Amino acid sequence: MTTATTTEAEATTTASPGAEAPGTVVIDAVTKRYGDSTAVDRLSLTIEAGEFISLLGPSGCGKTTTLRMIAGFEEPDAGDIRVSGRSLLGVAPYRRDVNTVFQAYALFPHMSVAENVAYGLQQKRTPKSEIRERVVDALDLAQMRGFADRKPTQLSGGQQQRVALARALVNRPSVLLLDEPLGALDRQLREEMQLELKLLQSRLGITFVFVTHDQGEALSMSDRIAIMRSGRIEQLADADTVYARPASAYVAAFVGQQNFFRGTVVEGGAVDSAHSLVYNMSAELPVGSTGLAAVRPEFVSIDADVAAGASDASNTARGTLIGVSHLGETMQYLVQLGDDQSLIARRPSPEAPQLAIGDAVVCSWRAESVLLFPADDAASASGYVAPPTV
Ligand SMILES: Nc1ncnc2c1ncn2[C@@H]1O[C@H](COP(=O)(O)OP(=O)(O)O)[C@@H](O)[C@H]1O
Ligand SMILES: [Mg+2]
Repeated sequence: MTTATTTEAEATTTASPGAEAPGTVVIDAVTKRYGDSTAVDRLSLTIEAGEFISLLGPSGCGKTTTLRMIAGFEEPDAGDIRVSGRSLLGVAPYRRDVNTVFQAYALFPHMSVAENVAYGLQQKRTPKSEIRERVVDALDLAQMRGFADRKPTQLSGGQQQRVALARALVNRPSVLLLDEPLGALDRQLREEMQLELKLLQSRLGITFVFVTHDQGEALSMSDRIAIMRSGRIEQLADADTVYARPASAYVAAFVGQQNFFRGTVVEGGAVDSAHSLVYNMSAELPVGSTGLAAVRPEFVSIDADVAAGASDASNTARGTLIGVSHLGETMQYLVQLGDDQSLIARRPSPEAPQLAIGDAVVCSWRAESVLLFPADDAASASGYVAPPTV
């Protein structure tokens, strides 16, 4: 790609045939390197017009870099990015039909809310009457019309975020890029804004590309989620699929929580781990290979171990209760199975058993709840395995 030498006039003429609807974003085998490190690695992703898509992954996996390339603040080293069927290589950020909302709102402190929202249009020499109309519209959308004359310092964090949103919407982009926009808000406000953003997006019908490291946020808002790992997409699917049928141990551990049992795959589709023989329904791995059997805490039942003694039952593990925490709708139990393995069980509060720290307990789960993955050292050694947090 000769991105550096492509002028804007040339870039405009590279519009591809009208197969891609306005608002469609195509990321085509894009790579971005910083020195020796590859931030984004041959990433391809087609985002449909009007879709709400999240880029989800841990810090450093390349989410922001991907977004900045769509916005035009970074140019790819290889590959192409198209919005509405038009290649954006070499096109200046302000000429792209996209706008970005950042976590740090970067409002001008000396300007009023209305002036902040109007600024971009003034720079583009939009007629005054049109600016006035569009600023009012944008403030309405962000539910900030009553605050037009305030200065940013006279606003709460949530209100400042709404102004940042209005400032992006005033340009009426086909695509809105949002980089952890709710990260600075407290939990309750964040959850309110999640609902509002989702409603706004379906009302406007514009494409949202939402970057987050918060899996709950991604699950609750997105039409589809792209789970990123080391500059690539590990899985692209809707929330139900990502949760119920994760493509890898990495995805399984990053979305929701998992208990992992590492062991040798034996006949009958079981993993023979140090603490339990874990049966599953898939049995897709070769006998003798190392597998990771995964079961979510919400699928593990727990009870007092009355008939103490050695257990030979499958999908059962005995241990000692070392933690209990109230999570609201659920109770969470942390069980020590042995020196090196703990297990998390979660029960709906109304049916949660009364157990005390130090109790001998028995945990069990159904084979249908167990997912089986090839051993993935990167996923299980770097903190993606459900941490024993109780
Ligand atoms: N301007 C930059 N210079 C050098 N390295 C960078 C730069 N921006 C990002 N990186 C590196 O690229 C990788 C991806 O970063 P980033 O896209 O910010 O990840 P994320 O948003 O998922 O946390 C990281 O290893 C980061 O250190
Ligand atoms: Mg980032």
